[in-house]
Amino acid sequence: MSPADFRSLFPILREKVYLNSCSQGALAEPVEASLREFMAGWHEQGNPWELWCERMEELRGEFAALIGADTDEVAVTFSASTALNAVASALDPRRRSRVVTSDFDFPTVGHVWLAQAGRGLETEFARAEGDLLPLSAFEAVIDSATALVSTTHVCYRNGWKNDVTRLAEMAHAHGAPLLIDAFQSMGTEPFNVRELGVDMLVTGALKYLLGTPGVAFLYARRDLAADLLPSDSGWFAQRNPFAYDVHRLDYADGARRFQSGSPPVPAVYAALAALRLLRKVGLEAIHGHVERLADMLVEQAGQRGWELMTPVEPERRGPLVMLRCRDVETLLSALSERGILCSTRDGALRTSFHYYNSADDVFSLIEALNDNGGLMKLGSFHGREPAIHWRQG
Ligand SMILES: Cc1ncc(COP(=O)(O)O)c(C=O)c1O
Repeated sequence: MSPADFRSLFPILREKVYLNSCSQGALAEPVEASLREFMAGWHEQGNPWELWCERMEELRGEFAALIGADTDEVAVTFSASTALNAVASALDPRRRSRVVTSDFDFPTVGHVWLAQAGRGLETEFARAEGDLLPLSAFEAVIDSATALVSTTHVCYRNGWKNDVTRLAEMAHAHGAPLLIDAFQSMGTEPFNVRELGVDMLVTGALKYLLGTPGVAFLYARRDLAADLLPSDSGWFAQRNPFAYDVHRLDYADGARRFQSGSPPVPAVYAALAALRLLRKVGLEAIHGHVERLADMLVEQAGQRGWELMTPVEPERRGPLVMLRCRDVETLLSALSERGILCSTRDGALRTSFHYYNSADDVFSLIEALNDNGGLMKLGSFHGREPAIHWRQG
């Protein structure tokens, strides 16, 4: 499916330049149709729970295929936070007493790990140097007491992308598993958990996976899951939820043991349609397209001397590009008046790209930023100028 055909499925793009997938993916017609199908089934059949559970299994299979995992290695959860809490509840601080995360992680990740202090699990942060998070920052805090390295793939507040392969090597050298939060990248580039050496992964469906809030995923390597018994549990974490045995805890094999209660069925319907739509395009094609658009903005910003918060090197960034500004709120309203929807973090302009965005979207943004040039900060990314030649194709 070409980017233009894909784009035509998103009604909002007829009216707006949508550069806010890092916050919420745009609504596709097939996703809306799937939500209607959920409602129709509810109207017509009242309580089609068997069907709804089948849909959840289909979704589990779709997500497993997306990341190169087996179906039983995926838990369908409500949010990244609930997935992380289930994992946290299974870690035994007597075995290893520290979890490593970083300054670039989404706050919820810090909150989940800091909340474990009462159970004896400490949190160490890999410390950033400005908008950089070098591997040496992780090296400084990972050791033989590390129970888990839990960090982000792409940073939500500056677009920095961690080197997952190197992080996996580093964690494994100390006998610790690596958990990646791929919320800000999943859906925009191939991510094969086995090839990357990732042991666990969390992500939600609402951003680049083009679903709704309410459903998220946890991947846990089969042998790792077998070794973990979450105390944060519930009937959908059991081998057979429909055994209805209140007296017996019988954890499911694999990642299902990290689930808890009734699945978020409407969100499951939406995510299933969204993942099927993404499969029609393929992550490889999406990656090429998204990277070209991000390159365009980075290069254009460099030419105009606008200060980038996101690395200029393509391998250190994902779909998110951020520019420092003098007055971001005024800039956001000026953009919004022209139908350009972006967001902000840390006083900077936050833009992000998906397969439905076009080169024209980037040109519209550049034009609008040019017209509001006084609101932009001048500088470069840590003294580095972008040396990018727009990729062909
Ligand atoms: C990197 C990252 N992790 C996690 C989350 C949210 O997690 P949850 O599903 O628990 O709300 C976000 C949301 O913006 C995010 O950007």
